[in-house]
Amino acid sequence: MSKRIISLILTASMLLALGLCACSGSSTESSKKKKKKVKKTTTETSESTLDPDDDPTSDPDADPTTDPGIDPTSDTTKDPGIDPTSDTTDPADSDPTGTPGDGPMVGISMPTKALQRWYQDGADMKTALENDGYRVDLLYADNDVSTQIVQIESMISDGCDVLVIAAIDGNTLSEVLAEAKAQNIPVIAYDRIIFNTDAVSYYVTFDNYNVGVMQGEYIRNALDLDNTEGPYNIEIFTGDPGDNNAFFFYSGAMDVLNPYIQSGKLVVRSGQIAFEDVATEAWRTDSATARMDTILSANYADGSTLDAVLCSNDSTALGVENSLAAMYTGKYPVITGQDCDITNVKNILAGLQSMSVFKDTRTSSAQTVTMVEAILEGKEVPVNDTVTYYNGSILLQSYLVQAVFCDANNYKEILIDSGYYTEDNLS
Ligand code: BGC
Repeated sequence: MSKRIISLILTASMLLALGLCACSGSSTESSKKKKKKVKKTTTETSESTLDPDDDPTSDPDADPTTDPGIDPTSDTTKDPGIDPTSDTTDPADSDPTGTPGDGPMVGISMPTKALQRWYQDGADMKTALENDGYRVDLLYADNDVSTQIVQIESMISDGCDVLVIAAIDGNTLSEVLAEAKAQNIPVIAYDRIIFNTDAVSYYVTFDNYNVGVMQGEYIRNALDLDNTEGPYNIEIFTGDPGDNNAFFFYSGAMDVLNPYIQSGKLVVRSGQIAFEDVATEAWRTDSATARMDTILSANYADGSTLDAVLCSNDSTALGVENSLAAMYTGKYPVITGQDCDITNVKNILAGLQSMSVFKDTRTSSAQTVTMVEAILEGKEVPVNDTVTYYNGSILLQSYLVQAVFCDANNYKEILIDSGYYTEDNLS
């Protein structure tokens, strides 16, 4: 049994233990294949437009001072044209007649527009699908589960032909996806698994367990744990408990680091090791800062050195870095991350973060576009994994993309030479 399957079983039991499992969807398997018709009509609606009552300041990613993600002013190569600050549908993208066309419509539901990666994922897919003549309804849900459900419901009732969903909480969509299935709308789960439904036709993601392994191995190698005495102090920050990826990242990293914690070579002074103790709700940067502040005051105010911080992604890493900047003057720790968000790559170049796992979302979004088009054109849909991801209801037909680690030594090759960023983006 692979480590990932073990992780998934572990995940399922943890979710059960946390009482987070939602009820199962119940409709039968079917697929919808339509001929592609070329008619460009696009709707791109901002998160705040959708919920007038929503407080934009409640978005964990919305505060530009704490958000590692979007720098809409500086990223020219990656900006596909969406203004992340815009609250309204872009009239330039809309059908000039003002009425929906009759060609295939792809509904894309993303967690939040404010975090760089989701902004890019959505924008890249939208651009590619439009270039191929599809209509796109791209909605961002402000990291709010009920908003995401309402948005998906509206995509279904508007007659979308395929749904692409990056779930905010993979345990909350069974009911709305049962509706999609009843309407024969194929669903692609994007990046994050969707649990307890047989309505998910395909899953596109990265090898998330391996992302965690890379982070754990980076710390092991940076501290040379196999050849030095230690002990070394480490603290741990992972992501949202409703996002199954967080369990994979945590499991992968902890499978590498746990033996050293058991042997005493790595010491977690805060004592916070279990997933539920190191989770960060909604991956919030400010929550990570607050928790790190508390840990530093309680455990490192005596001048003790903090040698490493395992952070599952860049938004949590940035939170830790903000706390360290304000409250810690000792030898700077090894810090991991994920996503290669611009602010974090700048921090890597400034020596304030050690690495970030680079998940080339151009590849995962392009793969998703290929799948959407194959579905709509009745062609065989490419997958490369049919055994790893069981969602509590079915084994998902998956396409896994590989990630690589990025640090100050290889960022040019990984990020610049590949055209992901320009040097200007990072200066
Ligand atoms: C994604 C990460 C991202 C995190 C926070 C995870 O599901 O895989 O790339 O950093 O969500 O948005």
